[in-house]
Amino acid sequence: MVILLLYSFHLSFFFFFFTWHYNFRLAGKVAIITGGASGIGASAVQIFHENGAKVVIADIQDNLGQAISNKLGGKNVSYFHCDVRNEDEISNLVDVTVAKYGKLDIMYNNAGILDRPFGSILDTTKSELDRLISVNLVGSFLGAKHAARVMVPQGHGCILFTSSACTVIGGLSTHSYAVTKYGVWGLAKNLAAELGPQGIRVNCISPYGLVTPIGGTIDESIIPVAEQALSEIGNLKGQILRPDGVAKAALYLASDEANYVSGLNLVVDGGFSAVNPTMMKFFNPEEIETTPKVIHRSNM
Ligand SMILES: NC(=O)c1ccc[n+]([C@@H]2O[C@H](COP(=O)([O-])OP(=O)(O)OC[C@H]3O[C@@H](n4cnc5c(N)ncnc54)[C@H](O)[C@@H]3O)[C@@H](O)[C@H]2O)c1
Repeated sequence: MVILLLYSFHLSFFFFFFTWHYNFRLAGKVAIITGGASGIGASAVQIFHENGAKVVIADIQDNLGQAISNKLGGKNVSYFHCDVRNEDEISNLVDVTVAKYGKLDIMYNNAGILDRPFGSILDTTKSELDRLISVNLVGSFLGAKHAARVMVPQGHGCILFTSSACTVIGGLSTHSYAVTKYGVWGLAKNLAAELGPQGIRVNCISPYGLVTPIGGTIDESIIPVAEQALSEIGNLKGQILRPDGVAKAALYLASDEANYVSGLNLVVDGGFSAVNPTMMKFFNPEEIETTPKVIHRSNM
């Protein structure tokens, strides 16, 4: 009887330890998340916090950022006003974080903006191009630069970027947006080359379209309709891409589970960019019957 009790005690202890350990995949780590006041960034703040990280939210939406920090409990989640276009503000953000928490393990450069609407290169204005570059590309560049400044002496660190599935397939975004997100992916690869020997991993997360306030304030009632529309255009059915789906990919890359992963563009698009839509017609018999030209080509 005693042996049985001891055995079950050991089992429950093991189960408790395993569950505890698994739930805290970023235990002891310090992270900065730019654009952390909304959408993907806000979801990453919550998920990183739930996994044991100390998180600094860096954004320009002070009320939203501060509200998230208050909700999650001020000690381990704090808000810092930082416009990523401004090098002094980024530099200060990194220094304040290190002064407060003693180090910087994860720099997640996620802040970004969209331009609208889709259009020809002939309609693209230089001012619009400059605006996107200054936030999406320069902001990410400066974030990585100042993170590297403190990570290199530490001898370890993880730099993440939110890029976009438009880095793997054309026509998914405006030209200006594609320029910035390709730039971010190029920067990530180059940094992986420079910083790998210093023990620093550098990766991108590249999502398919998802509903967030990036395109402007969204009416709650529209969200399901917009999500459904994106899902219908997408490849993977039965799942909807939401901010937490992207944040969980970031969690993996930030955690020690990815301790040998660097220089990766982790595309979170349900296979959208891997599928050739023309070839998809062959999987749909009805379409083959109504499109003889396609059948003819397939027999060639
Ligand atoms: N929503 C999508 O469909 C989608 C798809 C692929 C990639 N992305 C990328 O994901 C990232 C997050 O976007 P989201 O969809 O969560 O949008 P979002 O608007 O909800 O979040 C972006 C955040 O960045 C902040 N931000 C903007 N300019 C800033 C600046 N100058 N300094 C500091 N913070 C600034 C905003 O205040 C906001 O809180 C962006 O880089 C975006 O390009 C989004």
